[in-house]
Amino acid sequence: MVLGTVLLKTEIPGPRSRELMAARQAHVPRGPFHVTPIFVKSAKGALIEDVDGNWLIDFASGIGVNNVGHCDEAVVAAVQAQAAEFMHLAFNVTPYESYIELCKRLNEMTPGDFPKKTFLANSGAEAVENAVKLARAYTKKQAIVCFDHAFHGRTYMAMTLTSKAKPYKAGFGPLNPEVHRAPFPYPYRWSGNAYTEDQDTVDEQCFAEFKDLVLNRITPYDCAAVIVEPVLGEGGFIPMSKGFAAKLRAFCTEHKIVLIADEIQSGFGRTGALFACDQLGLVPDLMTTAKGLGGGMPISAVTGRAEIMDATGEGGIGGTFGGSPLSCAAALAVCDTFKKGEILERARHVGAQVQETLIAWQKKHAAIGNVRGLGTMMGFELVKDRKTKEPWPEAAKQLTKFCYENGLIIMTAGTYGNVVRLLMPLVIKDEELKQGFDILERSFATLRMTRQSF
Ligand SMILES: Cc1ncc(COP(=O)(O)O)c(C=O)c1O
Repeated sequence: MVLGTVLLKTEIPGPRSRELMAARQAHVPRGPFHVTPIFVKSAKGALIEDVDGNWLIDFASGIGVNNVGHCDEAVVAAVQAQAAEFMHLAFNVTPYESYIELCKRLNEMTPGDFPKKTFLANSGAEAVENAVKLARAYTKKQAIVCFDHAFHGRTYMAMTLTSKAKPYKAGFGPLNPEVHRAPFPYPYRWSGNAYTEDQDTVDEQCFAEFKDLVLNRITPYDCAAVIVEPVLGEGGFIPMSKGFAAKLRAFCTEHKIVLIADEIQSGFGRTGALFACDQLGLVPDLMTTAKGLGGGMPISAVTGRAEIMDATGEGGIGGTFGGSPLSCAAALAVCDTFKKGEILERARHVGAQVQETLIAWQKKHAAIGNVRGLGTMMGFELVKDRKTKEPWPEAAKQLTKFCYENGLIIMTAGTYGNVVRLLMPLVIKDEELKQGFDILERSFATLRMTRQSF
């Protein structure tokens, strides 16, 4: 079957994907999850070719990584050139220039007009771990405040900071001490002092709880850092308001608390600006980045105030592979692309189309309870009933399955598993976007059938 860019030669998953899934079950533990049962042969731009010769449109970007597209030419060329020179030395043994150049670029690109330094690691979780270490070393305080619905990774501190228990934390305790959680303004599901969806009221009530937590239950004398995602990612694409961001900033400055912005999912153009913080007017003390930074290569960074970044002794932070030469080469190519600026224009164009489409769908499809996000980081929440707002995670699964069976890869998110999030490469072509939307919209028909038997 040929459908424009989507080309389906077999049923999905095809025979070779099924074979590989059987081998996967035999040799790989249950833990690592799969959004789709499709095994990949190649990928380019916003398209993925599976091992059975089918071509699918990608609205997931490997969880928000391939912002510049799969196999971006500049990234591939940079990695190939670097591989021919040297692949690994360990920055801790014999340093190399590309590490320093990338740190310099990140110091320039991130918000904040003050001296900055950057440390490179491998994964998002590792960046979060190091940001917490630096904040504690600098402030000589211990408590860390995080938020409801947050996701910061799967290592012990990152997992402790993460909100959702299943599958991330349940059964893995004991978790880390000195971690406290405040409510994140989530107007659609706020049931605080008074039921309201008004952003300003929810911000005010959440901030009052946050303040009470830090002032009375921790005290600023013991509070080292506050870590927050400017747009909640795994938590369901919930943007923080400018007002809440400003209050957090002022409070942390007043009480000498390090403010860490986790831009691992929201960074590198995902929201239509280089960083979500740029849109919110938020200048954090430390910022964690990963995903989009490497254009497909594993790399992460902590960037921030030089005096905080210098707080550990020599050897206090580091690692064998952190800031690998291959990943630095890829990340520098990504930074060049963002410097040229067209990709941000493209991101805003794609974001506008996504928003327009989702808002139109909300008027047509009763299952969509809430549409939200920032830029192209948009999602919608599926509910069984708009009045009760009962989450409908089965619907999110059903849409995902229909989509991949028909040539589109999407992902879900949210504490209740009922959010469909859209994370297409920012370079996606208009016709690919349109075709992806056609498939996604067709998937709503499967809900109508389920609803009848409800
Ligand atoms: C906001 C945020 N922080 C941290 C992480 C963890 O990153 P990684 O999976 O690379 O460890 C993620 C991953 O989804 C994320 O979205």
